[in-house]
Order: sequence, then C-alpha cells, then structure tokens
Amino acid sequence: MGLSHKNLNSTVLIGITGGIAAYKICELIRMFKKNNYNVKVVVTANALNFVTELTLATLSDNKVYSDNFDIKEYKPEHISLCDEADIMVIAPASANTISKLANGICDNLLTSVACAFNKPIVIAPAMNTNMWNNNFVQENLSKLKAFGYYITEPESGFLACGTTGEGRLCSLDTIYNKTLEILEDNKLLKGKKLIITAGGTIEKIDPVRYISNFSSGKMGLALADNAYKMGAEVELISTFEVDRPYVVKQVSSAENMFAEVKNSFNSSDCTIMASAVADYKVAEYSSQKLKKGSEDKIVLELVKNPDILKEISKIKRDNQIVVGFCAESQNLLENANIKIDNKGCDYLIANDISRNDIGFSSEDNEVYIIDKTHNIKHLEKSSKDNIAKQILEYIFE
Ligand code: CTP
Repeated sequence: MGLSHKNLNSTVLIGITGGIAAYKICELIRMFKKNNYNVKVVVTANALNFVTELTLATLSDNKVYSDNFDIKEYKPEHISLCDEADIMVIAPASANTISKLANGICDNLLTSVACAFNKPIVIAPAMNTNMWNNNFVQENLSKLKAFGYYITEPESGFLACGTTGEGRLCSLDTIYNKTLEILEDNKLLKGKKLIITAGGTIEKIDPVRYISNFSSGKMGLALADNAYKMGAEVELISTFEVDRPYVVKQVSSAENMFAEVKNSFNSSDCTIMASAVADYKVAEYSSQKLKKGSEDKIVLELVKNPDILKEISKIKRDNQIVVGFCAESQNLLENANIKIDNKGCDYLIANDISRNDIGFSSEDNEVYIIDKTHNIKHLEKSSKDNIAKQILEYIFE
C-alpha cells in the first residue's frame, strides 16, 4: 500500500493566449517538468494558431485544455482544473486577455478558469509596444495588481512585429523563479514540523502470531502527504513500509510507536495520532511458538499499552498542537465529546467506522472535527486526500 514513490510536487497550470511569444512557453513547460512539477496547460483558441496542441500535450505529459471539448465528455473542467493546480501562470498574456480578466469576463475556458481560481495567478504580458502603452491596458493591469495578481513586467527589445520597444515577454527564468517564490511563500505549513502516526499497531503473541486491527493507514498517509505538499517538515511514524520524500519511521507495536513519538515530540509543532493503537498487548510474549495443548479453551492475558495521545497531551507546550482520532461504531459525537476531555488533546477527528463506505480500508471518509471547547465542524464525505487537506487547513488557518 502506497509503496510507490508518489509525486507530491505542486501543480502549475499554464494558460497560453494568442501571441507570437506562445512558442517560448514550450520551453517554460520543460523547465517546470524537468524540476518535477506537474504541469497542466489551458489555451485560448488563438494560442493554437502559434503552437500545436500535440507539442503542448507531449511536453506537459497531460491533456491540453481548450474550448474544443467533446460535448459527450463535458464536465465542468474549469472547476476541476482550479482544484488540482496550486498556481496559475498566464504567459504570454495578451492585451485582450488582460483586459477581460480585469473586468471579470469569462468567454473562454482560460478566462473562466482564471475567474474561478482562488490561488495565486502570475501574469506575463507580451504585446506590441503601442498596445502595451495603451491607457486601457495599463489601467486594467493596475486593477489586476491591486487585486493581488502577480505581474512579471515585459522587457524592452526587438519585437516580432519588427519594431523595438517595450512589450517583449520577460525572460523565462524571471517567470519560473517568480512562480517558485510565490509557491514557497504561500505554503500554509512552511516552517512547521508535523509528526503523523499511521496504521494499526502489531502486538506480538509469539514468533508467528499477533494481535492487530483493520486500520489501513490511508488517512494518516493522506495527512502526511498533504502536510508535505503544504510545506511542512513531516515525520511519518507508520506500521507499514512506504516510500515518500519525507522522513518515514517504521514501527510495529504501541510501545515502539510511543518511543518514536516521544523522541521527536519536543521539536514538533503539531502531532497527529491517526494510527489505530492497540489498547492492550499480551502480558508475556512467548519467544517460542505456543503449542496447541489438550485444552478446548485458553485464556490470553493482556495488559494495557501506554495511551500515547493522552501522554503527549499532558506534556505538550502551549505552542504545540496535539490532534487525535476517534474511531467509533456507535454514538459517535457523544463518545467523541467525552474522549476529547479524557485525552486532553486540542482536536479530535471523529469518524464512524461502522459504515462500509467510509473509514477503515475505504478510499473515502466523512469526519467531525471537535475542539477543546466542543465546537464541531463537519467535513462531508470525500476522498481521504481531500479530507486530510481540509483537516490541515481547518487547524492551521
Ligand atoms: N490512542 C493512543 N494510544 C492508545 C490508544 C489510542 O494514542 N493506546 C490514540 C489513537 O491514535 C487515536 C485516539 O487515541 O488518536 C483515540 O483512539 P480510539 O481507538 O478511538 O480510542 P481509545 O482511546 O482506544 O478508546 P476506546 O477504544 O475505548 O474507544
């Protein structure tokens, strides 16, 4: 599960409008791809007069989005593109598109995406000098700047129309570096260290047998992946092996997990206990395989494991956040309200494990976030990835 090395890098949505500088954007796509960014491209109809869809699809390794959609496959693409991308770069941005954006006009897929995009947008204008100096264009650019769009100013030089002056697309390095700088600055968890536990602990009985539970670890892994994407330094303490670009420590029993959590806790800003920790372990581990005797019934003596969540909540500093999960099969909110007081953590994420469509092993989840004052926030059923993102945003925003 999750063994493959997942690409957790940001997604850059490049919007290309109709201008001769469109050919340069092929190289910009390569720059992002070479550095492992995911690239999606949306074009206006005029852009395709300057570059081909095949070139853009090949370089970005993705389908190119344009107004030429197949009506049978129609779905609101502008919304899904907005969800997937972390930043939008419109290059070259023509005078026409700049003016449409500044006036909220959405008459093609590119302008519709930009209008619905609630993350940073970089605009790299390129046009003829007279168009650049046009009062309407300048006023529209000022409007965009005032509304928080990032503009990479064009340079002066020889233009494709044969004249020399201002209006030439700035260097690709400028656009590339500006995009990366904005991506970094906008990461919600930049400078934060998160410890996240995942999976069900394994309590050995003898060399061949153990006690465990049905936890798949998917929720904890989704939290770790999303925290990493949001710029956090992540340490995942999991009961399964997984290949990720952040620190992963594999543990087995509740005691192992407790030792690793304690080890890192002091330097963490937030610890999320998403693992299913066994409440009990066998009183005495047998180093030899237990043999079947003549008895029809045997009794396995169990002793309590440390309650990791409760222990770290006792020692946490005021500037540290501790989050627990609450797996219940009945009376979810009632039990969760009691559990948060008992554990002493800052937040508890409650989910109903009796439902087949959410919880253990499922790809989806539906949770309630409860805080110390018993405020409740409901997150509707969605993929575990999306739930993880929403949990982190709720806690840190
Ligand atoms: N937890 C823990 N150590 C334990 C048991 C649980 O740190 N020994 C953590 C879990 O990781 C989770 C939270 O406590 O974040 C709640 O776990 P849950 O299984 O819902 O509750 P329990 O404390 O085990 O209580 P019960 O089984 O009675 O519901």
